[in-house]
Amino acid sequence: MRDPAENHALIEAADAFARERLSEKRYDHTVRVADTAEDLARIHGLDLARTRLAALLHDAARETEPGEYLRLAEEWGLPAGEPERQSPKLLHGPVAAELGRRELGVEDQEVLDAVKVHTVGAAGMGPLALALYVADKIEPARDYPSVGRIRDLARRDLREAAAESLRRAISYNEGRSREIHPASREMLEWLEEPERAAHRGV
Ligand SMILES: [Fe+2]
Ligand SMILES: [Fe+2]
Repeated sequence: MRDPAENHALIEAADAFARERLSEKRYDHTVRVADTAEDLARIHGLDLARTRLAALLHDAARETEPGEYLRLAEEWGLPAGEPERQSPKLLHGPVAAELGRRELGVEDQEVLDAVKVHTVGAAGMGPLALALYVADKIEPARDYPSVGRIRDLARRDLREAAAESLRRAISYNEGRSREIHPASREMLEWLEEPERAAHRGV
């Protein structure tokens, strides 16, 4: 994004795009995530418009048919491993990022990457992607036992909030013998690295 007017136009376009592609329920979630992500961006000194744009796009492809996810992934050369073949909706982030680029003309790679990795996460993600990842987990309608703690952490430290959210999701899935996406494990390892370094006195 090159200037504020362009930011504004892209935000309007992404909002309309999400609204037309999603049920009311999921569009409302999208707007809550956008508001939450923008709050986090304000607290952590990130670009508000770029963060909002990523949030408005994040679930835009969430109501696609399973076969269509796989067809688009194939057509656009998006990586789809075993977890994605088992559960094609895992592709809704990469597909939404690609739609943002192709249909709305979003060129901002940090915005597109944030959209792409918001579902399963990724090691090494940037601050904007972390803000979106966390906002998706703590938007006001989210209601699970540790959400209050993650909301508090998010105001202080996005990495800590994301790590706590991942630990919770991983133990929840392990308790139900559900597969954990390798990218989620890699993200948690990456987030915990400085902690381990601190314990070693590095
Ligand atoms: Fe999503
Ligand atoms: Fe979402």
